[in-house]
Amino acid sequence: MADDRLIAALDVPTRTSAEQLVARLGDSVSYYKVGMELFYALGGGIVTWLKEREKKVFLDLKLHDIPNTVGNGLCSLLRLRPDILNVHTAGGLRMMKTASEALHSAAEAEGIPCPKLIGVTVLTSMDADDWAGLGHTGTIADAVLRRARLAQEAGLDGVVASPAETAEIRRVCGEDFLIVTPGIRPAGVSNDDQRRVMTPAGAIRAGASQLVVGRAIYAAADPRTAAEDVLKEMESV
Ligand code: C5P
Repeated sequence: MADDRLIAALDVPTRTSAEQLVARLGDSVSYYKVGMELFYALGGGIVTWLKEREKKVFLDLKLHDIPNTVGNGLCSLLRLRPDILNVHTAGGLRMMKTASEALHSAAEAEGIPCPKLIGVTVLTSMDADDWAGLGHTGTIADAVLRRARLAQEAGLDGVVASPAETAEIRRVCGEDFLIVTPGIRPAGVSNDDQRRVMTPAGAIRAGASQLVVGRAIYAAADPRTAAEDVLKEMESV
């Protein structure tokens, strides 16, 4: 049975491949993540299509620009009625505050339920070398925690973070803060380009609210069985 804690990433290039994957997953998946690949190819129509099928949608576009542009961009996305939207915390406190205020005001003015707004902390594909290469001197874990605190201060509902940082964020930001974790790899599945990974059970145990699972489901020989295995593992915790 579907469980909103599992968000399947629709990281496929065409409308046909998206529709086929959603059909194959059937009622095992209730929540989808639409990211850059599909949104840039198809625009908002794919979000509307999923909503018409009573699926929930995390529209993962990681907005990162000046405060005014991000705020207005979110207001445009609001009209697609996604359930979760996100910005990149690297845009800083002022940007996140403006984003949150703009989204809440627009939702109220237009009579649309306000989506959750979350902040990407540090991409789960980055490791310590990538981080140092950008000139950062502290650890990724410290940066993630600092960014999670800033997101909370700015009024965001939660963050995207790797499962490795989840327990500490949960401790510091409290029970109500959403922690959405990509970088999920069931035992025996390739890490691909991800670096800070964990199993579904490990992520739930660490305190994740929702798991984003991409390749481990859509690239599996049988995506439905792969999704059901992830669900079973989550429910066993
Ligand atoms: O295939 P895989 O499970 O690695 O896909 C993870 C998904 O989560 C991708 O769509 C990626 O864009 C997204 N994501 C991530 N790390 C973040 C934020 C989003 O991997 N920090």
